[in-house]
Amino acid sequence: MTNPLQLMCTQQIIEQFAPEQHNLLNILHALQDNHPQNYLTEQALDDTARYLGLPKSSVYGVATYYTMFSLVPRGRYIVRVCTSVVCELHKAGRVIGSLENMLGITTGETTPDGMFTLELSECLGQCQDAPSVMVNEKVYNNLDDNRLAEIIHQIRGSQKTANR
Ligand code: FES
Repeated sequence: MTNPLQLMCTQQIIEQFAPEQHNLLNILHALQDNHPQNYLTEQALDDTARYLGLPKSSVYGVATYYTMFSLVPRGRYIVRVCTSVVCELHKAGRVIGSLENMLGITTGETTPDGMFTLELSECLGQCQDAPSVMVNEKVYNNLDDNRLAEIIHQIRGSQKTANR
């Protein structure tokens, strides 16, 4: 059953864009970014299809084609580890292992508190400062275990402050 408040929010987000098909990706990004669990609901996809006058299958096709979109709930923070060649040469595997240990999850999973989802990524365009990780929109470079622990600690701390 649709939550009327969420549906209203979805409509408001969609209507920030002109009802033109070239806005599909922007709408999907906005909807996903605005969902606290960082994913596209079925309702959001249906509303988008209706608004743009596209078949639902086309909207679903786009949402499932791009790896940056998710159709399942994820954490508030998406941690993406670059595994392209330069980061691979700079021990991206170690970064993944460290994050899995720190977060207590394996790649593709979400922490039980809903804070973090760990994913892999293609090149983040920061090869000169590899290894690199992106957390939501922010990129971090030259990572070692200490820096990773600091980043996770900072995010957890900022969330505790925001929840007070
Ligand atoms: S290979 Fe990792 S940022 Fe380019």
